Amino acid sequence: MMRPLVVGNWKMNLDFVEAIHLTQQLGVVLRSRPLEHVDIVLVPPFVDLRSVTSIIDSERMPVEVGAQHVSMHDSGAHTGEVSASMLRRLAVDWVLVGHSERRAMYAMSDAVVAATMKAALRHGLKPILCVGESLEVREADGHLAFVSDQLQSALADLSGGEDLITVAYEPVWAIGTGRTAGTDQVREMMQHIRGVLNTRGLTNARILYGGSVNPENARDLMVDGKVNGFLVGGASLKAESFLAIADNANDCYDGKR
Ligand code: 13P
Repeated sequence: MMRPLVVGNWKMNLDFVEAIHLTQQLGVVLRSRPLEHVDIVLVPPFVDLRSVTSIIDSERMPVEVGAQHVSMHDSGAHTGEVSASMLRRLAVDWVLVGHSERRAMYAMSDAVVAATMKAALRHGLKPILCVGESLEVREADGHLAFVSDQLQSALADLSGGEDLITVAYEPVWAIGTGRTAGTDQVREMMQHIRGVLNTRGLTNARILYGGSVNPENARDLMVDGKVNGFLVGGASLKAESFLAIADNANDCYDGKR
C-alpha cells in the first residue's frame, strides 16, 4: 500500500483572510493530533497562496501547497495566466492539471492538458493529473476507454520528471453532487488506471479518488476502493471534515503497522 495523499481543492472559495483562518485552524488541530502516515496538500486560489505558505512555514506545519492551475507557457503576453516558475518562487510544490471544471468551463483541451503537464514538470512542480468521465460516458459503458484516452494523451511525449506525477480519478457525475462513486466502480477504475500507468513506467504514481468524498465514505473508499488518497472539494473547506478524511486515510495505511 502506498502512503496516502489527501489534497484539499478549495476551488473558488475563501478569500485571503478566510484562507488564513482555515490554515491556522488546521495547524492547531495538526499540532495536537499529528497525522504521521498521510501527506496533506492544500490547494487554495492563487490570491491566497502567499498567505497560506507563510503560515505553513512559520507554524512548521507538515503540509504542502498546490495551485489549481498553471499556464502551459513559461512567460510572456498571456494576460490572466500564472507561470510554473512564479508558483515555485512562492514555495508551491503541487498543481492540479486538467481538472474537469477547467476542461468543461474553460475549454481546456487534451492538447493543452498535455502541454501543461510538460510545463509543470519542466519546473519541478508535482502535477495532479485529473481524469474522469461524464455520466453519459459512464452509462454507455465507455468510462475505461475514456479515461485511458485522457491518460495517454496527457502522458504522451513526457521527457523527464515522470516520478512527480499523481493521478486523480474524478468522475464528473460525482463532483459536488453528493453522489459518490461506489467502491466497486472506484476499485475497477483504480486497477484500470494502474494498468495504464504501468505500461508507461509510472509504477510509483499515487492514484487518488475525488467526487463527494466526506468523513463517512473515506474509509470504505480507502479499504474497498483501493485508492491511494483523495482529492477533496467541498469537505476541504472546513478543518474538521478535511482532517477527519485525512484521519481515516492515516488509520487505513497498512505501512504504519
Ligand atoms: P467535491 O468533493 O466537492 O465533490 O469536489 C471534488 C473535486 O472536484 C475536487 O477536485
